[in-house]
Amino acid sequence: MSPLTFAASTHDALPLYALRKDQLDAWIDGPGKAHAPWLTASGFKAGAGSVVLLPGDDRATAGAVVGLGDDKDRARGRFHFAAARAKLPEGTYRLEASLDDEALNEAALGWLLAGYRFGRYKAAEPPKAMLTAPDGVDAARLEAIAAGEALTRDLINTPASDMGPDELEAAARSLADEFGFSIDVTTGEALLQDNFPMIHAVGRASSRAPRLIDMRHGSSGPRITLVGKGVCFDTGGLNLKPGASMGLMKKDMGGAATVLGLAQMIVATRVDCRLRVLIPAVENAVSGNSFRPGDILTARNGMTVEINNTDAEGRLVLADALALATEEETDLVVSMATLTGAARVAVGPDLAPFYTDDDALAASLSDAGGAVRDPVWRLPFWDPYETMIEPGIADLDNAPAGGMAGSITAALFLRRFASEARYLHFDIYGWNPKPAPARPKGGVGMGARALLDVLPEILG
Ligand code: BES
Ligand code: ZN
Ligand code: ZN
Repeated sequence: MSPLTFAASTHDALPLYALRKDQLDAWIDGPGKAHAPWLTASGFKAGAGSVVLLPGDDRATAGAVVGLGDDKDRARGRFHFAAARAKLPEGTYRLEASLDDEALNEAALGWLLAGYRFGRYKAAEPPKAMLTAPDGVDAARLEAIAAGEALTRDLINTPASDMGPDELEAAARSLADEFGFSIDVTTGEALLQDNFPMIHAVGRASSRAPRLIDMRHGSSGPRITLVGKGVCFDTGGLNLKPGASMGLMKKDMGGAATVLGLAQMIVATRVDCRLRVLIPAVENAVSGNSFRPGDILTARNGMTVEINNTDAEGRLVLADALALATEEETDLVVSMATLTGAARVAVGPDLAPFYTDDDALAASLSDAGGAVRDPVWRLPFWDPYETMIEPGIADLDNAPAGGMAGSITAALFLRRFASEARYLHFDIYGWNPKPAPARPKGGVGMGARALLDVLPEILG
């Protein structure tokens, strides 16, 4: 059975009591009375993620108690319940807890996400404890979310040697096969014929051909187009990154990985919409035919772009994809990209910064992020900074000197290509630098669950 799904319910599932600190005393004096001496002797204080196994009379485990901590723990972290999973012996458990809707869903989803392992290169034991679907959650929805998130993590974690543009296309094709998308890919020189000049310019120096992946699903309902940055490796190009900055750049396709995971969630949870996914998949490499600082490129929509830094490549490939996205009518266009180091400096690895001119959308998204424990934070499309991306001899500058407000100027650059569309942009990090409950170190989706949660409302 997949560790990313719930176990079938069974009469002999072991009870897993989950308690907040403020619920502990009442539980020990009431329903948990039989376990009072053992819990007290064990020093159980319901600390976040703490576990005490309950002995049965036949030397088997009779169940366990898990601490959820207090409000402060909840404010300082997420998925505390999930931390218990790896500490439990093999078996099928059922959740016994008195939690509000949000906390219950957090516990159930966190449990599933804690079943994720990246085992492609080295065997990684998944946890052996399984949970039956708790009453009151939409089990199929949570499983769909966990599966989409696992796809995102796998794609990001896979190194560039096995996740070049070709393999990213293969991943998109297998998603398309499984979930019934149509898919169309424009590769190499065909990018020039079909007018994607900037995708070609960024990707042409790699021995692995650049391409644009275009997927569609659904034939009725509102139109949503997801655009994901698929830079399979970002050396910086001729403006070469120093070693320390290049080390993690296999994750520069994190936007693509996140939109693919989100697309899977959208289809699997049957959001009524016409979904389109666009992924410019390239490798920003160094070669004799690399694009250069000072070059002026003409984008798909005719705008000219002066290259001030070949390391600001994500906005270039996204620009052509956004131009394509807005050539047809849409109800929402979303871009997701590991676009700037400035975003990481501003908000760190936990928060997904986003930009939109739609205040209602921003408010709904922020609320949803809190509710589903996928925190997002709005940053401004600050119009007064538009002049920073206007260099003089071309329409746009891809890398304003000085780097002031680097995430904002990158977002403003992208907005120029989104025409009149209702537009939402995420500048994500795509990586969890240190292990946390339900979020191991490595690739991680950001913003996708929050967006999934609000889609019916904002498209409705
Ligand atoms: N892929 C990077 C952004 C990045 C770096 C994301 C580190 C997460 C962590 C992007 O292509 C890049 O290098 N951007 C430059 C832009 C600058 C040259 C204007 C940056 O942020 O330094
Ligand atoms: Zn770069
Ligand atoms: Zn990049």
